[in-house]
Amino acid sequence: VQQYEIAVLPGDGIGNEVVPEALRVLDVVSAKYGFEVGYRHFDWSCQTYLSTGAMMPDDGLDRLRDHHAILLGAVGWPGVPDHLSLWGLLLPIRRAFDQYVNLRPVRLLPGVTPPVRDKQPGDIDFWVVRENTEGEYSQLGGRQGEGTETELVLQTAAFTRRGTDRIMRYAFELARDLDKPHVTSATKSNGIFHSMPYWDERFAAISAEYPDVRVDQDHIDILCARFVMSPERFDVVVASNLFGDILSDLGPGVTGTIGVAPSGNINPERIYPSTFEPVHGSAPDIAGRGVANPVGQIWSAAMMLDHLGQPEAATDVVRAIEQVLGDQSAPRTPDLGGGAGTEDLGKAIADAL
Ligand code: NAD
Ligand code: IPM
Ligand code: MN
Repeated sequence: VQQYEIAVLPGDGIGNEVVPEALRVLDVVSAKYGFEVGYRHFDWSCQTYLSTGAMMPDDGLDRLRDHHAILLGAVGWPGVPDHLSLWGLLLPIRRAFDQYVNLRPVRLLPGVTPPVRDKQPGDIDFWVVRENTEGEYSQLGGRQGEGTETELVLQTAAFTRRGTDRIMRYAFELARDLDKPHVTSATKSNGIFHSMPYWDERFAAISAEYPDVRVDQDHIDILCARFVMSPERFDVVVASNLFGDILSDLGPGVTGTIGVAPSGNINPERIYPSTFEPVHGSAPDIAGRGVANPVGQIWSAAMMLDHLGQPEAATDVVRAIEQVLGDQSAPRTPDLGGGAGTEDLGKAIADAL
């Protein structure tokens, strides 16, 4: 029997409410498909920071390394500055394990009413492929003249040839599997002087390796407008770290709720474990009430199964999600217009399996 050891990090806020629902679904689907999933729980969170001064122990990354994958909830909580909590746990995991692809599907699910008119499931169904280890999220830069009139802060974006080429190749490989291969590059080469002309240059070079794939290049400003006005036009969108971060909240926003959006932080070479987590954060405004939508976390677990080599189980979980959301009599959390709780929706999806 195939066995997988998963590191489970619920983190903060609603992470603690939605992760158990993903485990519930994993238990059911693993029994159905005849493999075993073992969990090692890590309670690292902002609470850890407040009691120890660090988000995780010194050897934290080493303790995660020997797992088949990492399932994460969310990190960040009022009282700990976000840049300390995120740079103390989530971002070091993405970097140490070279999870350079942040793969974020955007899909209008059945039974969910989008804020844009006349869109049906199938109209909005694409991937955001976000560069996940460099770009605008760099620690290069600094601060001078702190507190003076001449105070200056520099934040340097870093784009390497290796980092740029590999995320673009991943996007083209993903697009190749589609019926109509198509990649859109998110750029801003009209305004950002160094990095974005370089991004375009590498996009042109890599696209030449994939003559079968149709390409588009949209500046990030109009791209945002098109996400809302004509989401049908997108199939695979490749973007730098910050542009991809913004697009991967905008996309789910257009599909009706951020609560359903999943992601994989993937090391395609499988040298290191990949991390699967919803796109959303710890949602302090609703945490503790048991009303968070667990679908983003459960779909993230499905992406994990696909990555682990269980594509049938993964597809079945997504089917169960779609079946439950499409059933108007099934439980719905408040973000979906209902009055049900996190557990109700999680159990309904597990039952549908
Ligand atoms: P957020 O995603 O936590 O919340 C934004 C809004 O979406 C809130 O109104 C929230 O209630 C709602 N929401 C989010 N997830 C939901 C769900 N599953 N069901 C229903 N509604 C949901 O973003 P934020 O408020 O900007 O950030 C809160 C904290 O989370 C911050 O500390 C931030 O840094 C952190 N954060 C962490 C991650 C991560 O761990 N990957 C991602 C984003 C934000
Ligand atoms: C995400 C989050 C993180 C990011 C934050 C919390 C650092 O917004 O996973 O999208 O910007 O990558
Ligand atoms: Mn984000």
